[in-house]
Amino acid sequence: MQVTTKRLVIRPFKEGDADALYSYTSNAKTMHYLPEEPFTRQEVACFIATKNEAYAVVLQKSDALIGHIVFERYFGDHSYEIGWVFHQDYWGKGYATEAAAAVLTYGFEEMGLHRVVATCQPENHASYRIMEKLGMRREGLFLQCIPYRDTWWDEYSYAILQQEYYEKKQRLG
Ligand SMILES: CC(C)(COP(=O)(O)OP(=O)(O)OC[C@H]1O[C@@H](n2cnc3c(N)ncnc32)[C@H](O)[C@@H]1OP(=O)(O)O)[C@@H](O)C(=O)NCCC(=O)NCCS
Repeated sequence: MQVTTKRLVIRPFKEGDADALYSYTSNAKTMHYLPEEPFTRQEVACFIATKNEAYAVVLQKSDALIGHIVFERYFGDHSYEIGWVFHQDYWGKGYATEAAAAVLTYGFEEMGLHRVVATCQPENHASYRIMEKLGMRREGLFLQCIPYRDTWWDEYSYAILQQEYYEKKQRLG
């Protein structure tokens, strides 16, 4: 998948992305709501080599890699999960929403997906705001479903069906 938006290019990772990916995935604040610990250099190399479902988000203007979107099979061939991680320097500028919206459009219109889901912790306001801005519905709140160190995380679960995607698109003209 390669998608272009007004400000961004969303494309597969390549080897030369390692430094940029490390610059934010090694940051404890950025990785706070992810089940993984901050990445080491070795984990970054492994991620680029093996995580084919992750797509780099690059600024058109400067070619800077500012984050990534994970878009992967969830159930069968037509149900996918979407997720996002961005460099802290670029938060709050609408980049994650812009990238995720373009990936969702690609998923429904080019891949013919039936359903896309996303999850996050209820404390992660920015993440579930993206889901809501994409037109996803909150389908549930799972209490203490993820073991994390010596505690349990709750989780919101959101989804959008292809039909809902097209209804929203029609509403917005
Ligand atoms: C979640 C994340 C990807 C959002 O990226 P972003 O580019 O800042 O998102 P956007 O600018 O598109 O903003 C999306 C919404 O979140 C809100 N938002 C952004 N940063 C916020 C913050 N720190 N606190 C509260 N809301 C915030 C925005 O205001 C916007 O909502 P609005 O339109 O109602 O104002 C980014 O914060 C991040 O990478 N976090 C760390 C990784 C992570 O937690 N990933 C998700 C795991 S489930």
